[in-house]
Amino acid sequence: MTANPKYRLFDLGTNPELTEAIAKKLKTPVAQVEMQTFADNEIYERIVDSVRGIDVYVVQPISYPVNDNFIKLMIFIDAAKRTSAKSINVIIPYLGYARSDRKARSREPIVARLLANMLESQGVKRVMTMDLHTSQVQGFFDIPVDHLIAMPAQAKFYEDQGLTGSDVVVVASGPSTLKLVQKLAEVLEAQWAIVDQDRDPRVQTAVTGNVAGKYAIILDDIIDTGDTMLKAIIAVKKAGATTIDALATHGVLSGQAGENLQASDVDRVIVTDTVPIPAEKRFDKLTVISTADLFAEAIEQVIAHKSMAKVLLSPDQREAIE
Ligand code: R5P
Repeated sequence: MTANPKYRLFDLGTNPELTEAIAKKLKTPVAQVEMQTFADNEIYERIVDSVRGIDVYVVQPISYPVNDNFIKLMIFIDAAKRTSAKSINVIIPYLGYARSDRKARSREPIVARLLANMLESQGVKRVMTMDLHTSQVQGFFDIPVDHLIAMPAQAKFYEDQGLTGSDVVVVASGPSTLKLVQKLAEVLEAQWAIVDQDRDPRVQTAVTGNVAGKYAIILDDIIDTGDTMLKAIIAVKKAGATTIDALATHGVLSGQAGENLQASDVDRVIVTDTVPIPAEKRFDKLTVISTADLFAEAIEQVIAHKSMAKVLLSPDQREAIE
């Protein structure tokens, strides 16, 4: 494979499988970065071949270890800037810290905004990401943000298995995913419901909507510790669902999340590959679906200066974001 003279695609070793899959779709090789971690944990990076006057695209999720992975990205940006790359475009499939998007209590920081400032101040021209915890985080940047959604890949996954229609119910694990739930339900011609997860432990988690006797797909943006999803699984099971899938874009799966989900009443846990899942974190009930096509298509549109609209279409060709 020969590199396109106009752009190079880079990977920083955090999710090489995803970058390789994107590169394959784009029919471009992954350009080389020499990387080393010194004894004191300082990171060294050097872009191997010249990118002077060339558009640079780098794939780097801000996933575990979040702080190391963020600084790896910043060091790469510095290297690309100092060698006069034409533009620096960062593809952040999972933006860690996106949940720190507001001051919920006095004297708290807003880390998502801080990250946006740091990326922008170093001359990043464009950010491409997927299913931000809240889409308003896009507004923290003053540069273009291509906010992709996993829904087209998720909907296709269910359609391919014939899991559509009124026997299926898409369930929001909390209010933040309700819009996506309604959209997925519309595309699958399914029902929708919501789990009322009150943060107050004295209030029982309850389901609003009918899940009894149905195939329930509980949707969330992130499964981190798994607590939110596990509570939703218990509530949906209690409300009489026959089969339960836990569906999320970002499988962060911290701590015992995998073991706890495996031991729960969930039938399948379906996440995407925005976050790498090492072999030791995988479990029998886990299925990973790929977002590589969506990212590759989006990069192609950017390179061709074409609209992003077709990347945001559901499989039935409806606009996924309204
Ligand atoms: C919350 O608002 C989010 O949408 C997720 O439900 C949450 O971040 C998941 O975290 P955990 O798996 O730790 O409950």
